Amino acid sequence: MDSNPPFDLMEYVNRRRDLVDAHLFSYIPPCEGPASPLFEAMHYTLKAGGKRLRPICVLAGADFALGLEPAEIERGGWAGDRDPALAEALLRAACAVEMIHTYSLIHDDLPCMDDDDLRRGLATCHKVYGEAIALLAGDALLTHAFFVIGQIGGSLKERALDAVHELADGSGAEGMVAGQAVDLISERMGGGTESHLEFIHRRKTAALFRASLTMGGILAGGSEHDLETLRSVGEIVGLIFQVTDDILDVEGTEEELGKTTGRDAELGKLTYPGLLGLETARRRSSELLSKAEDILQTCGPRGIPLSVLAAKITQRRN
Ligand code: IPE
Ligand code: IPE
Ligand code: MG
Ligand code: MG
Ligand code: MG
Repeated sequence: MDSNPPFDLMEYVNRRRDLVDAHLFSYIPPCEGPASPLFEAMHYTLKAGGKRLRPICVLAGADFALGLEPAEIERGGWAGDRDPALAEALLRAACAVEMIHTYSLIHDDLPCMDDDDLRRGLATCHKVYGEAIALLAGDALLTHAFFVIGQIGGSLKERALDAVHELADGSGAEGMVAGQAVDLISERMGGGTESHLEFIHRRKTAALFRASLTMGGILAGGSEHDLETLRSVGEIVGLIFQVTDDILDVEGTEEELGKTTGRDAELGKLTYPGLLGLETARRRSSELLSKAEDILQTCGPRGIPLSVLAAKITQRRN
């Protein structure tokens, strides 16, 4: 992180994470009735924790589109202060994104994918509930996300439709799912080129970050130019996030990450450190950060929170 940040990033992140957590479970069915094991499995992985970075990006995209400056954010302001209907729409979108992200983690950990035992510091969903219920908990979280956004009503309905389009694009057949498929195909083929690696990162991770920032901008009524900025910055932040994830799989610890390290090398995954080495991976991450900072510098003070967030992601330890 910048040694002299223009505002308190951790306070910003914590406040927005708490806001998301205060609403997330109200959108999920309670653990009762004949399907309660399914609902418990959904609650289990959502409750296990997680940084909530993608929902924070939804809220940050809206702050950006409305032009909130660091000083206003430091006083506790956020985009939802302007209008209760916008606040509800943003929280629905933020929670929907977290549901989709959590579904992707549950499926990513299954034996037929990365076969992992530890997630968010706890046993993976399928280890506790069995593979079939874990698979269905993922399916339910994915579908329920669109149900939750679909309930955005009133004057924001049209914007919500555009946001859904962005979310389906980022998480679907040409987005995250395509990235996950090529990740597994490369693993099974025993490798790939740098262009395969770029394909994987852009889709499996960057596409959902891009959708998250852009959805916030759309719901807040951002201009086409603002949305283009959010798309570009979201994609770069997502790429930084995944390069760092690959680096941490090599040099992070299980305690910090809440997941088993060294799995990428064991599985023969196509990663930056694996293909090009740790030094090149770190250089790639700082080149990407400079790219994001160059774009955000043209946006004035409202670009500062995103710039600081991007810098923090290059230095994250979990
Ligand atoms: C893990 O994402 C999956 C990747 C795309 C690398 P996070 O590191 O954001 O996971 P949580 O939500 O904090 O558990
Ligand atoms: C997963 O990438 C990306 C997803 C879409 C879930 P990884 O397989 O590297 O994520 P981790 O390391 O298991 O969290
Ligand atoms: Mg994976
Ligand atoms: Mg994995
Ligand atoms: Mg990983």
